[in-house]
This record gives sequence, structure tokens and C-alpha cells, in this order.
Amino acid sequence: MAQKTVLITGCSSGIGLAIASKLANDDKKRFMVYATMRNLDKRRDLVDTAGSSLGKTLEIKQLDVCCEKSIRDCISSIPNRKVDILVSNAGMGMIGPIECQSLEEMKNVMDTNFFGLVRLLKEILPDMKKRKKGHIVVISSVMGIQGILFNDIYAASKFAVEGFCESLAIQAIKFKLNITLIEPGPVITEFEKKVYEEGLKVDLSAADQETRDMFTNIYLRNYKDIFVSLGQSADDVAEHTKKIITSDNPPFRHQTNTLYTPMTTLKYADPNGDLPIDTFYKMVFHHDKVFHASLNFIKLLRWRSKKSFNLGKTNNKE
Ligand SMILES: NC(=O)c1ccc[n+]([C@@H]2O[C@H](COP(=O)([O-])OP(=O)(O)OC[C@H]3O[C@@H](n4cnc5c(N)ncnc54)[C@H](OP(=O)(O)O)[C@@H]3O)[C@@H](O)[C@H]2O)c1
Repeated sequence: MAQKTVLITGCSSGIGLAIASKLANDDKKRFMVYATMRNLDKRRDLVDTAGSSLGKTLEIKQLDVCCEKSIRDCISSIPNRKVDILVSNAGMGMIGPIECQSLEEMKNVMDTNFFGLVRLLKEILPDMKKRKKGHIVVISSVMGIQGILFNDIYAASKFAVEGFCESLAIQAIKFKLNITLIEPGPVITEFEKKVYEEGLKVDLSAADQETRDMFTNIYLRNYKDIFVSLGQSADDVAEHTKKIITSDNPPFRHQTNTLYTPMTTLKYADPNGDLPIDTFYKMVFHHDKVFHASLNFIKLLRWRSKKSFNLGKTNNKE
């Protein structure tokens, strides 16, 4: 198999860093990875994780998904501008009541998460179409198919990504291109910390008391528990992404977190859309104790399965 060129955005941390490092360190050296980030001063973690692949199967380049020139310069610096696989990963989150968020902040999220992808494709898609070859892999989210309390703008940006890709996917078949939306649930990365810390700083004075209580005492109080109980590692998401990239017939959608699947299934189970909304409402406002107990139960199960896995490993060595 000829070596494939992979361009990944947002590789300074988290999922992008994990995918870049995993693909660059592929045993069979199937990938030449262009790992990009908007600020090259943040390259240290990737350099450390990528190890000896740097300068061989990995190059680090500057790319800001909010700047057309930076995208063009980056693509033009790649031999023949040939990108076989694009992994559009760069993104940001935002939580809080909309009455406390400025339109500027909201536009920034849309500009990064949605228009960032559009800018990339405007530059890369024409070449892929000409070559009738290419795979566009987009790190979306379960929030691209289902809204979550106080994630209104973030979910909207991921819904936009999903609608955009679903429309493009029809045209893509004509040009023999693949598009895949990777939909992780909670992933333990810088994202989770940044979003939580920003959430703590939200000026809630524009919201009524009930909304303020809901955000502070329900949403923020449960935030970390959800990540601890249901969260995946970035490396796990990278493993899923590698499987998708190397598969002969990649799917259009791929969810990475089976613990979250029961929630997203509700969306598909009721075309009226009431089932997931009612379920979330009851879970958050009526059955919060059961919800908490379930999270703790999942946490315990995960801890036990990890323990038995470790014990199994020790036994094998003996
Ligand atoms: N963590 C989760 O729970 C989760 C769940 C589902 C989906 N996702 C999605 O996964 C993707 C990666 O997130 P992550 O969890 O790995 O978070 P992360 O560790 O915060 O990584 C986000 C990356 O995007 C970069 N980025 C932000 N704005 C950019 C811009 N304008 N141009 C280029 N790069 C930019 C960041 O760069 P800087 O370091 O310069 O800010 C960083 O490298 C995002 O699209 C996110 O929506 C995350």
C-alpha cells in the first residue's frame, strides 16, 4: 500500500495530538502525517509524544482554521498539494445560558467549529475531486446529533457540521470520495478543563435566578462526574479514527463511546424528537438521584473491569 498523506488540524493537544502520533508511529509506516496547529509554540507535547517519527513520518506545520491564508500556505507547502486524508479536528467548546453569552463569543465558536471545516474543504476538496480520491474525516460529537442542556451554541456548531457533511456526502460518491463523521461522547482532554473553567467564569447576572441555579447547581455540579464516568481517552478516539481510516468501506457516521450509545439511540427511535428531550429532562430534573447513582455504578464497573484487565495481564506474565 502506497504511503498516504494525512493532514490533521488542532494537534497541539487532545484528540488531534493523539491521532497524529498514532498514525505517524504506524508499524507499517502507511502514513505521512502533517500535524498542524495554530500556534507552533505549543508543539512540545506533540514532539514528546511523537518520538522518533518526527522528521520521518511526521511534520509539524502552522494552520489556523479561522484564517484562509494560513490554510492555503499550509496546503501549498505539501508536495503537489496532495492530501489523501483530511482529519478536521480543531474545535472549541462553550457552555452557559445564551442570555449570558455575547454574539461575538457565539460567532467565534461557529467560526472555528463550522466555518473552520468549510475553509479547509474549499481549499482541499477541488484537488480531491480532480484526483477522484480522498477521505474527509471530521471529528464531530454526539452533540452533532443530540443537543445537551447549556451546550446550545456548541451543539449548533456540530449540527451545522453534520448537515454540511451529510449534504456533501451525496456529491462525494460521484467523485469516489469518502466522508466520515467521528462522533465521540465525553473525552478527557484539555477541552473538558477549558470548557469547565470558562463555565465557572460566566457572568450569570443577565440570567434569572432559576436559570442561574440550574447552570451552577445542576449542570456544573454534574459536569466532572459525567466525564469521569463516561469519558474516553484521546488515545481511544485516535484508535477508532485509525480503524476508520484504514477500513475498505468507511461508514458515514461512527460513534466511539458505547456507554453513550443508549442516549443517541433515543434520537433515532422517535421521529417526533420528543423521546430524547423528555428523557434528558426527566433525568436532569426528576431523577437526578438515579442519574447520579447510575454514573457512580458505571464508574465502579469501569474501575472493576480495568482492575480485572490489569490482573489478567499480571497473570499472563506469571
Ligand atoms: N473532549 C471532548 O469531550 C470532545 C467530545 C466530542 C468531540 N470533541 C471534539 O474533538 C475535537 C478536539 O477536541 P479535544 O477534546 O482534543 O480538545 P483540545 O485538547 O482542547 O484540542 C482542541 C484543539 O483545537 C485547536 N484549535 C482551536 N481553535 C483553533 C483554530 N482556530 N485553528 C486551529 N486549531 C484550533 C486547539 O489549539 P490551541 O491549543 O491553540 O487552542 C487544540 O489543538 C474538537 O472538534 C471537539 O469539538 C471533543
